[in-house]
Amino acid sequence: MTALGTAVVGATVSKRRETAFAWARSHRGVERELDDVPLSVLRGALPRELVGTLFRCGPGRLSAHGTNYHHLFDGDGHVCRFEFTSDGVVRFRNRFVRTREFLAERDAKRALFRSFGTNKPGGIRRNAFDPVFKNAANTSAFAHEGRLYALWEAGLPHRMDPATLDTLARDTFGGRLLDGENAWTRIAGRELPFTAHPRVDPKSREMFAFGLSNGPTQRLHLYRADGSHAMDEPEVHKLDALYFVHDFALTARFRVLFLCPARFDVVRTMLGLATPVSGMTYEPARPTRIWLVPRDGYAKSPIVIDAPSCFVFHHVNAWDHADGTVRCHALRIDTYPELPHPFDTDTLSIAPSKKSVPFYTEFVIDPEARTVRAQRRFESPCELPFVDPSLTTQEHRFSWATATDPASPMQVFTRLVKFDRARGTETVREFAPGFPGEPVFVPRGDGGRGDDGWLLAMGYSTRDGASVLEVCDADTLENVCTLALPVTVPPGFHGCWVR
Ligand SMILES: [Fe+2]
Repeated sequence: MTALGTAVVGATVSKRRETAFAWARSHRGVERELDDVPLSVLRGALPRELVGTLFRCGPGRLSAHGTNYHHLFDGDGHVCRFEFTSDGVVRFRNRFVRTREFLAERDAKRALFRSFGTNKPGGIRRNAFDPVFKNAANTSAFAHEGRLYALWEAGLPHRMDPATLDTLARDTFGGRLLDGENAWTRIAGRELPFTAHPRVDPKSREMFAFGLSNGPTQRLHLYRADGSHAMDEPEVHKLDALYFVHDFALTARFRVLFLCPARFDVVRTMLGLATPVSGMTYEPARPTRIWLVPRDGYAKSPIVIDAPSCFVFHHVNAWDHADGTVRCHALRIDTYPELPHPFDTDTLSIAPSKKSVPFYTEFVIDPEARTVRAQRRFESPCELPFVDPSLTTQEHRFSWATATDPASPMQVFTRLVKFDRARGTETVREFAPGFPGEPVFVPRGDGGRGDDGWLLAMGYSTRDGASVLEVCDADTLENVCTLALPVTVPPGFHGCWVR
């Protein structure tokens, strides 16, 4: 553990290769589904106060039925459940999400659907004029008021049983997530997209979410459900151009959305000559359009403010400042980042373009003056940020993320970093040639007490040759306990903790 600025021994070239191969190994594909297997402790000891359940979601395999997926985002959704019991044991269960597409392809023993980055085998003949893409259910395990969902941003949420991980429903929220009948939806289907990053107001327990639907016109759908899962009629906004939005932030007043300028080659995609990913280009000549949408409804128009062009995958947090501005912290990238395939070890072991490295940035947005000011706050290139969810809509001091060496960034993030806004410091722990996934913060007690608690990060230990769950002290990042998984599981994207 090292304060940034003091010596952190960077990964050597051989370690970079070792890390790239470890990343590829971790993505070999989940081979077994297990039921509540106790995990063995490799190092350290489990804290007895750590009682609850961690859920993680990610692509569980990168090929199926003889078809290799060309992009990480295409892997079939897979959810892990780690139950921390009061007797000091962690029980592990894992399941692929039984989406309609997963089951149909399993029965047919061949690929039946297009994905974001992979067309069906058979070329143009099988892909042209097919606007239906597989719901991969592979991005986030998200819990809200007793319900668990596997989320994928371009389709409906899948509701899972939080105890068994059985797939229960392709959830339309009582029909609210079904589009109207028209010529386009008769071909493409009526299911509306639902982000992998809903936000919950910790006071009201309301869940806010959005979806970005493509078609003749790109539309932004805004959702709100109360603590009993009742969803309002969605707000729908037609957009003036094409944008990419993966995440958003929530304050007491606003939903904060960064509409990042992108272009999709709709014609080549519809002809089956490209996929949405291969046909997407970032358009730096256009501004990034920031939308502040009042939480209290359609009656009030969004406040639209243009910022210099940038790309944001993930927001850290946001709140309404006493001076009337909105403070939104996000991981800013100059352009759409490179995302090499996990098996492309050569590209993974080289440094990414400086333009595609994300940095922790504070955006000060003035809704009255319609201005925005951005300032980088920390120097570690980082992704997959996490803040105590009980501080959503409120100013936070601490946040955590996966990170890479600023002097020699690589495509696989091998570090955990803790950001302390009050001190302006970064605390770093290096795992190379292994790597950690998203650090889920679990506060001791009820939360809201700063950095007192633990980080849970699923990753891969090269030393142990196994997927592991790292339990770290959230203050110092020191190892508390390392648990071995009985199957190799890709680290995935996002998860949550349920007490
Ligand atoms: Fe995400």
